Amino acid sequence: MSTLRVAMVGCGLIAPQHLEGYKRSCGRAVVVALIDTKEENATLFAQEVGGSPKIFDDLNKALEWGEFDAVDIMTPHDLHFDHALACIKANKHILLEKPMAINLQECEKLLTAGQDHVTQNKKVFMIGENAQYWPEVVKVKEIIDSGRIGDVYFAKASYCVTKLSCPLEMRVDSKRWEFNPARVGGGILMGGSCHWLRPLRMWLGEVDEVVGTVSESAFEGMPAGYETQAQALLRFKNGKTACFQGLYASHALSDTPFFQVYGSKGEITIGGGFKAGVTVYDREHVNGESQGPALGYSESFPPEIGAFVSAALDGKPLDADAMYCSGEPRISWAIYRSLESKQWEKVWDS
Ligand SMILES: NC(=O)c1ccc[n+]([C@@H]2O[C@H](COP(=O)([O-])OP(=O)(O)OC[C@H]3O[C@@H](n4cnc5c(N)ncnc54)[C@H](O)[C@@H]3O)[C@@H](O)[C@H]2O)c1
Repeated sequence: MSTLRVAMVGCGLIAPQHLEGYKRSCGRAVVVALIDTKEENATLFAQEVGGSPKIFDDLNKALEWGEFDAVDIMTPHDLHFDHALACIKANKHILLEKPMAINLQECEKLLTAGQDHVTQNKKVFMIGENAQYWPEVVKVKEIIDSGRIGDVYFAKASYCVTKLSCPLEMRVDSKRWEFNPARVGGGILMGGSCHWLRPLRMWLGEVDEVVGTVSESAFEGMPAGYETQAQALLRFKNGKTACFQGLYASHALSDTPFFQVYGSKGEITIGGGFKAGVTVYDREHVNGESQGPALGYSESFPPEIGAFVSAALDGKPLDADAMYCSGEPRISWAIYRSLESKQWEKVWDS
């Protein structure tokens, strides 16, 4: 197979970012089908895709047709489990947007089915976590690995976004699935927080235990009961620590760095904003040395899609397998447990 025929499932907010990745694949992937229960979303998106993809209003109808090799699942969280299982049954390569499932039980069932899909069906089962490829996050990893800031001992991740400047437009509408805790599997922790937790794991290692809390904040128009704030301390298996803050705000915010990484010889930051750059503070640069122009968050998607295409066409190993990718929702579930127990909770033991 030299060209991967892809069916995109769910033609909403994130679909154009994935499409950009297929478009940059130098012809190695082509989108041949679009599936969306709102057919008008698929029809509109087809104009961006070009090449007259087939349009379906139901995943099962598309799988019955079956003229594609891979599915890219970008549907609401509560549908991920069923959609992924249907695509495993149909023997397709799978890219499933995060989180893989909305609770631990479905997550573990999917991990087992996904593992069989990889070993027996010889198909790709990839969970989409674009932060793995966020250019600034990758750059920080390179700087840490170079030893420039010495031994890393602590990091802060601040996922604080305001409706006033978020490029992935925060469409607050109580009728939308992303503000329905039952469909999201929670609130901010099961939303975008994973993209701030993954870098911490890339830089500091595996998380052992967490203690934290979640709450509602004054967010104009947010449905009551929807968690818009989260704070947590993370202890890693190697003893290092980090803190995480998540905040969806409708008011203005200062430009707190998204990330701060502290080492024995200095600090590295990624500025606040989806197109902010990396700065290093060390003895020679006490006011900080910019590490060049920022590429930004959106540039994480083409390499993510490229990794999926290479895994399916060339058998290239994934940078993060499904078990590893269950780490971010497991951290969120442990924070929810900690809220109840008021104690540190293990991330991987339950
Ligand atoms: N990586 C990121 O930065 C990022 C950002 C936003 C969303 N996401 C993830 O992408 C996924 C989709 O989120 P979104 O913001 O694009 O949502 P969205 O609501 O904008 O789009 C979802 C689409 O799925 C369609 N849909 C709903 N039920 C369906 C079904 N049964 N079969 C087929 N289509 C169906 C909807 O009509 C809609 O067009 C989620 O997993 C979300 O967490 C990731």
